[in-house]
Amino acid sequence: MNERIDNLKKDFQRLYGSAPAVLVKGPGRVDLMGIHTDYNDGFVLPIAVNVDVLAVGKARDDRKVSVHSINFDKTAEFSLDNIEFDNVNRWSNYIRGVCHFIQEKGIMLQGANIVLHGNVPLGSGLSSSAALEMATGVLFQALTGFEMSGPDMALVGQRAENKFVGVNTGIMDQFVSRNGQKDHALFLDCRSLAFEQLPLDTSKVKVVVCNTMKQRGLVDSEYGLRRSQCEEAVRLFQQWKPGVKALRDVTCGDLAKYGDKLPEVVRMRAEHVISENERGLKCREVLASGGLEEFGELMNASHDSARDCYEVSCPELEAMVEVTRSAPGSLCGRLAGAGFGGCTVSLVGDASVEDFVETVKREYEKKTGLAPALYVCTAEDGAGVLETN
Ligand code: GLA
Repeated sequence: MNERIDNLKKDFQRLYGSAPAVLVKGPGRVDLMGIHTDYNDGFVLPIAVNVDVLAVGKARDDRKVSVHSINFDKTAEFSLDNIEFDNVNRWSNYIRGVCHFIQEKGIMLQGANIVLHGNVPLGSGLSSSAALEMATGVLFQALTGFEMSGPDMALVGQRAENKFVGVNTGIMDQFVSRNGQKDHALFLDCRSLAFEQLPLDTSKVKVVVCNTMKQRGLVDSEYGLRRSQCEEAVRLFQQWKPGVKALRDVTCGDLAKYGDKLPEVVRMRAEHVISENERGLKCREVLASGGLEEFGELMNASHDSARDCYEVSCPELEAMVEVTRSAPGSLCGRLAGAGFGGCTVSLVGDASVEDFVETVKREYEKKTGLAPALYVCTAEDGAGVLETN
């Protein structure tokens, strides 16, 4: 991290002729429970991880924002008085969107010079976009000095993603990227946004994320399709249970009673979401009592349901799950994020982590011809200021 910080500061000095005033971080995330439950008003259990976007910045006297990305070696500029979508430097739209929706709350931002660098692998399902949005939010907050709670900042990030960038995601990624806590998993009720920090003892068990190196294909269209299938399930259930507002309100008993009246594919989607919410609640109990073996079993069940009922897996994810489940020290293997490629997540006994990593690299490559990337993750604090001058 120190080398990255030095480079950010050097580039800032070179581009803007002074030292930056603030250094901030916005972390990526991995979910341990809650596959496609957030937009169904359900429960999720993610952690903020040790891959992130780092940004340095300094306020300007005018209303211009100049932002340089070290990753893309490009500088984008825009005025806070007229924030438009950028078709060329598309990465800058996350920053533009966050500024737009902060200002929409009546907060007048100050212009800024910014340099940023991210090491969240793009398109892998670790939410590089939420990391960038939340780094942007806390940077402008530090430079302009306005009040905004962590949950509100997450909502601003989600709005930026949904309405400015145009990707219709739920609240999980931004929420944990802003509100995560070191050595804790965050249990979130996506309806009320009430959350709890549950201790995750990483001295005994490590969270290992395995990148299949299969870019998430189809994710936008299939994601939208899953959402509309869930909405259809809600509309149908409302005939029998008028109080249902989201799949969160449908129980296993309801599904047993009315399931055969639903189109089969809609029934399967509902079954996944309803059972995943039950597993989410169970995980909260299990984690509170430190039952990591049982937690691993619930994560395996979560994957199987996402594969069979929600149909968001793919051959590369299946190969990785098979390899990670049988590797030394493994408690589980489960797809992470939206699916259709990207990463899996496993809990691995601390003493076996090296063996696990070696075995997974060898066996996955043997099966698929792809060389995977593995990250041994720690649960980190959410987005915040690391240094001020
Ligand atoms: C993506 C979205 C999240 C969530 C997951 C699936 O990561 O950004 O809001 O819906 O997919 O659980």
